[in-house]
Amino acid sequence: MVNAKKDLVKTNTLQPPAATTNGTNNTEDNKRTRSSSFCQPKAKVLRPFNTSEVKILLLENINETAVKAFKKQGYQVETVSKALVGEELIEKIRDVHVIGIRSKTKLTKEVLKEAKHLLAVGCFCIGTNQVDLQAAAKQGIAVFNSPFSNSRSVAELVIGEIIMLARQLGDRNTEMHNGVWNKVSKACYEIRGKILGIVGYGHIGAQLSVLAEAMGMTVYFYDVLQIMPLGQAKPVESLDELLAISDYISLHVPETEDTRNLIGDHEIQQMKKGAYLLNNARGTVVQIPALTKGLQSGHLAGAAIDVFPKEPASNGPNFNYYPELLACPNLILTPHIGGSTEEAQSMIGLEVSQSLTKYINDGTSLNAVNFPEIDIRAIREDDKNTVRVLYIHQNIPGVLREINEIFADHNVEKQYSDSKGDIAYVMADIADVTDIKGLYNAIFATRANIQTRVLY
Ligand SMILES: NC(=O)c1ccc[n+]([C@@H]2O[C@H](COP(=O)([O-])OP(=O)(O)OC[C@H]3O[C@@H](n4cnc5c(N)ncnc54)[C@H](O)[C@@H]3O)[C@@H](O)[C@H]2O)c1
Repeated sequence: MVNAKKDLVKTNTLQPPAATTNGTNNTEDNKRTRSSSFCQPKAKVLRPFNTSEVKILLLENINETAVKAFKKQGYQVETVSKALVGEELIEKIRDVHVIGIRSKTKLTKEVLKEAKHLLAVGCFCIGTNQVDLQAAAKQGIAVFNSPFSNSRSVAELVIGEIIMLARQLGDRNTEMHNGVWNKVSKACYEIRGKILGIVGYGHIGAQLSVLAEAMGMTVYFYDVLQIMPLGQAKPVESLDELLAISDYISLHVPETEDTRNLIGDHEIQQMKKGAYLLNNARGTVVQIPALTKGLQSGHLAGAAIDVFPKEPASNGPNFNYYPELLACPNLILTPHIGGSTEEAQSMIGLEVSQSLTKYINDGTSLNAVNFPEIDIRAIREDDKNTVRVLYIHQNIPGVLREINEIFADHNVEKQYSDSKGDIAYVMADIADVTDIKGLYNAIFATRANIQTRVLY
């Protein structure tokens, strides 16, 4: 594997690409002159390869925004609309520098072992369970995802659900589809003036807070972190306090040891009689038997559940895990669609392609999930002989000393190093390098080397 990567760098060290200002072949941009009282130094465009040599394989119908972004960089892009498995996947992954997947393609240790040229994986979705993250890191393959691109989609769905629950729209809709006309106003409410309690005031919780206030709700929230409230929202000291004062409780916590089974019998009893519970976070946060009991007894006036402890692997008529829950009144059930919108998909395409492009072009690993996250400021355009060394190595003692000995004859402009578990990553800008290949070979030969790239 390492040799193959070495060859790539070797080839490209000998073939410097045409310099451009923005990573594209846009010569218009090069000609443009600016008059401004403040002029920031231009960043040097770093390229390890001829742009046409970077091969990207995008599976599972990844959004067009990503395809366009990669093509704009001059990368070779191949798209496949379905997920690949077995030999077909192995055959394809052998040849590419980046693979983009969604949730169905499984990148196991065995598959990754065959990926001799792979620099990075883009998960164009939220989760990364489909990739063996540790195996990838051990091979020096960075994995990126897009955890927050769909926050707004979830927040908007929750607003819709709050109104639907308040007006019992789920039940009225089902009745109408069954030919039943049931015009009622009893126990149907406006949401204006009601209290929304948000558990977890992160990306989604905070978005929801703003939308809910705009609808006339009063917002309180509980979070384990001290977070600056938006608008008029107010933090409370404990979950029990939030449960006791809220008309609606909406859950927006991650799945952790602490949030598993967070809402059970005790918590539901802490809620006001006639309150509503919404879970668009993770299925394991709510104990389904406790929720069923709360709805059957009438203690809860309704619930909206988008996520379940157990979810089917594929679409179809196979959702039969919770028969008692399904029979409950004023209960909106959705198949984990909180973040599933066209806008979110397009945003995911943009975000992940941007992370991958920065990693390929500059070595920046910000947003990597299995890797130390590193960034340093750009090399100035006029620093012609400054090169950037990207050194992924085993996290063992003495490596930095070895590396710095290799750098010793040069001026190290800037250097950053970080580690995560067994893997460490050094990014260093070295001035006045005339023998790039010699520098590369020396670093590559170190005992801890996993992957070395030199950008110039
Ligand atoms: N339904 C969907 O389709 C969908 C889509 C996107 C995200 N999600 C889920 O929504 C949840 C929230 O996502 P996010 O992007 O807002 O996450 P986030 O990380 O931005 O925010 C989570 C917040 O929860 C807080 N928190 C953690 N443990 C807590 C606890 N025990 N009690 C109270 N607060 C706690 C954190 O401090 C953080 O502020 C996640 O579980 C995510 O997986 C679901």
